[in-house]
Amino acid sequence: MSRITNLNVDLIKDSDLLKGFDFTSYDDGDRERWKVLIEGVLETQKGICCTSYESGMSVLGENFSDLPNLEDLNNKLERLTGWKVMAVNGLLPCEDFYKLLSRKIFPSATFVRDWHSQTFTGYPDLFHDVVGHIPLFFDPEFSNFLQKSSALIYKILKATPNGSAIKERMIQNFSRYGWFTWEAGMIYENGWPKAYGGAILSSSGETEHVQTSGITDFNLLEVFNTPYTDKEYSSKYFIVDSYQELYNTLELIKTVYHYEGPID
Ligand SMILES: [Fe+2]
Repeated sequence: MSRITNLNVDLIKDSDLLKGFDFTSYDDGDRERWKVLIEGVLETQKGICCTSYESGMSVLGENFSDLPNLEDLNNKLERLTGWKVMAVNGLLPCEDFYKLLSRKIFPSATFVRDWHSQTFTGYPDLFHDVVGHIPLFFDPEFSNFLQKSSALIYKILKATPNGSAIKERMIQNFSRYGWFTWEAGMIYENGWPKAYGGAILSSSGETEHVQTSGITDFNLLEVFNTPYTDKEYSSKYFIVDSYQELYNTLELIKTVYHYEGPID
């Protein structure tokens, strides 16, 4: 996957968000793979997806039975949540990624994964980004956590010199934090473990895998010390009692990195 190096987040306007996105460029093969993906995921999600995800899906009024047009999706999403999708095909520099999220701009891939990646993909595609993540943006607590944690992470990264060993370690820790929260995170609901992480909710294979795996109570420092790879099912799943618990980790992040400014 290519790297995007020429993005100036401060200059991005609404009219830039879907530049280059062409809904008419999808072909029958893309639509067929999408259909099989959504049928598989909706079936395996039953009983394991969190209520925020279910209600986000229903407020969105989408069952994603067809490939979504990001233009229509953006209109609805912005009106209802303040979030907007930006079409991005490539890897963003870490600071740009968090800065976009802090502005409630969610970078999404636009390609649909190949047939051989139906149950799991290591490369986020349109299906992962839209079906896995967007429904959660309708939960005000989760939305606030994602925006504020990204703003804080951006500020801490920005204040740390590039190329230093401490920054490399910091980037690793924040990647693990993102992975074990909004990618592979679990939350208790009425005593039952449910998934809110987009990597779980967009993968029929991972949705089944999580139900046969152990779950660990969320602990920030343990998360910082737990390696992961996005090329296979998560090695571990951390669970929180509430999104407020996640939000509360921001004060601990401030302490760990001696950051004394406001969270946002
Ligand atoms: Fe993701």
